[in-house]
Amino acid sequence: MTQKLDLIVLGVSVGLAVGVLIATLVFLGLRWYKKRAHLQRSAHERSFGSLPIRMNGFGVNTDLSASLESPVKGRPEHTQRSTQPSLWSYHSKDRPASLSGVFRYSYKDIQKATQNFTTTLGQGSFGPVYKAVMPTGETLAVKVLASNSKQGEKEFQTEVSLLGRLHHRNLVNLVGYSVDKGQHMLIYEFMSNGSLANLLYNQKEQSLSWDERIQIALDIAHGVEYLHEGAVPPVIHRDLKSANILLDESMRAKVADFGLSKEEVFDDQNSGLKGTYGYIDPVYISTNQFTTKSDIYSFGVIIFELITAIHPHQNLIEYVNLAGMSSDGIDEILDKQLVGQCNIEEVRELARIGHKCLHKFQRKRPSIGEVSQAITKIKHRQHARDNSMSFVNPDISLVISKIQDQQVELSEMTSREITVK
Ligand SMILES: Nc1ncnc2c1ncn2[C@@H]1O[C@H](COP(=O)(O)OP(=O)(O)OP(=O)(O)O)[C@@H](O)[C@H]1O
Ligand SMILES: [Mg+2]
Repeated sequence: MTQKLDLIVLGVSVGLAVGVLIATLVFLGLRWYKKRAHLQRSAHERSFGSLPIRMNGFGVNTDLSASLESPVKGRPEHTQRSTQPSLWSYHSKDRPASLSGVFRYSYKDIQKATQNFTTTLGQGSFGPVYKAVMPTGETLAVKVLASNSKQGEKEFQTEVSLLGRLHHRNLVNLVGYSVDKGQHMLIYEFMSNGSLANLLYNQKEQSLSWDERIQIALDIAHGVEYLHEGAVPPVIHRDLKSANILLDESMRAKVADFGLSKEEVFDDQNSGLKGTYGYIDPVYISTNQFTTKSDIYSFGVIIFELITAIHPHQNLIEYVNLAGMSSDGIDEILDKQLVGQCNIEEVRELARIGHKCLHKFQRKRPSIGEVSQAITKIKHRQHARDNSMSFVNPDISLVISKIQDQQVELSEMTSREITVK
């Protein structure tokens, strides 16, 4: 009987032990399974999260954030939605731009915005330029690269990569580009008052005032100053001309077209003259070396266009050289629209700056910083005169203006003497 009882106790104990063992194994098995499932899920989630970025060829890098945060005007709406990349925001069709923070548009977008390329603004050596109204309401200018132009192709690549990193209020902003259906296009901010060349030569009835011309000269100087002295490495424009100066709705000037721009390199590989006839530095023609001082020469030509409204193709430089023989020679070739409408001392001062820019020796030409300072001085004179004139009648104001000019000249002569001593 006792033996039977012992056997029952033993059986129950073994049964219990086996039960506990099985339960422990099941518990451990379940925990392992859960952990594995969790690991698998998070691994899956991680790879899924990065998938859209990899799929579209973007890395999670500064390039992407730069293009999303860059204050470029005319940004497509989809790029403004969110700075957090989501699965849907990288669909290849509406992918935000990639090239140096400049946005990429599809051919279809541009075709629609330009009413199937019918809104022509003009035609340059690069190809036609169209006005584009985007779905956001923003107006832009689209430059279509002529497909048969080899030089244009090169210009396209240079402009996109160069302009992507150059931003200044006196440079025409490159908003985007398009490489689609075998077409290359550059998309710029729209400059509603067109080119300086057009305003000087085709709009005689609505002539630019002297004050506007001084402001335009200063704006151009600031734009070029940024290229020469602000950009790293420095940039030489290589095609400064009145056709490449564009004006916005407030008649503020911006320098356009960096297609011929080049980072400053002094190698012997430079071959083939670049630029526009009438604006090219004679030193560059003879040496084939383009320096910042060659841009200064072209800027000098623009200064005389502003003063005379004579186109460089109409013997402007010959007239300017003749005028330079006497201190008041410039009076003879002053734009007819300005006669009696401007302060002749300011005209002569601007002409003196222009002559220095055209000096036959590059080292004798001023730097763009010096040019900016000199034009700023003229502007300060204007301000001083305007302020004092607002209180007096026109006859007295003319006398005051003369006295002020003489005072400025006297103080300049004194400061020159002090520097010489
Ligand atoms: N961003 C812009 N906004 C408004 N009009 C523009 C813009 N860019 C160019 N244009 C106009 O389009 C026309 C052609 O410009 P484009 O720059 O192609 O030629 P260009 O400056 O005359 O010669 P080049 O090809 O030598 O630069 C010009 O008359 C200019 O007024
Ligand atoms: Mg141009």
